[in-house]
Amino acid sequence: MNEPVSQNIVRAEGRLEGGARVGLLGHDALTVWFTGLSGSGKSTLAFAVEEALVRRGVLAYVLDGDNVRFGLNRDLGFSPADREENIRRIGEVCHLMTDAGVVVLSSFISPYQRDRDGVRELHPQGRFVEVFVDTPLEICEQRDVKGLYAKARAGEIPEFSGISAPYEAPASPEIRIDTTSGTIAECADVVVDEIVARIKA
Ligand code: ADX
Repeated sequence: MNEPVSQNIVRAEGRLEGGARVGLLGHDALTVWFTGLSGSGKSTLAFAVEEALVRRGVLAYVLDGDNVRFGLNRDLGFSPADREENIRRIGEVCHLMTDAGVVVLSSFISPYQRDRDGVRELHPQGRFVEVFVDTPLEICEQRDVKGLYAKARAGEIPEFSGISAPYEAPASPEIRIDTTSGTIAECADVVVDEIVARIKA
């Protein structure tokens, strides 16, 4: 469903020009979309990038899958339809936050290419950067930081990404990070450099 339910709504226009907030903040906005399996290191990386950016004066903010599911998306589970709705809502949040000038660091498994592409399409050209946190399933499962893989293997968590639910790796991400061949700081540097080049910070 792409059309709003109500046919009686009209878009309202603000009075500011597009660049007004860029002047205020001193940099452009961007959505940086981290995708990868649970335990791949998406959120660790996103928080490291957030810290580095804020320390150099960039207004950056992490949206994290687990955290958002405690609040805005607490009504959603892990069926394909719920995951689609999860990503659709977050895509809209990214759209709003980038409109407000923020560099959004979005960390969700987001297993479906179609849903990630849908978020990309909400953004102007070049304002969406897909970061594939490419940690192999075996490594995520070995780490099992949250103990969820063990539960999924034991059949206690249905529809678990990589085990009993699909994960579609990005076809052509702007950045691919191999977390097994670098420290978090090294991986974060790669992402920060790409962001800084794009937002002219
Ligand atoms: S997504 O698939 O809809 O993008 P999201 O990133 O919001 O997922 O949430 C994933 C997190 O929820 C995982 O890191 C994990 O902690 C937890 N989780 C709980 N159940 C599942 C499940 N069935 N599949 C994947 N992750 C799950």
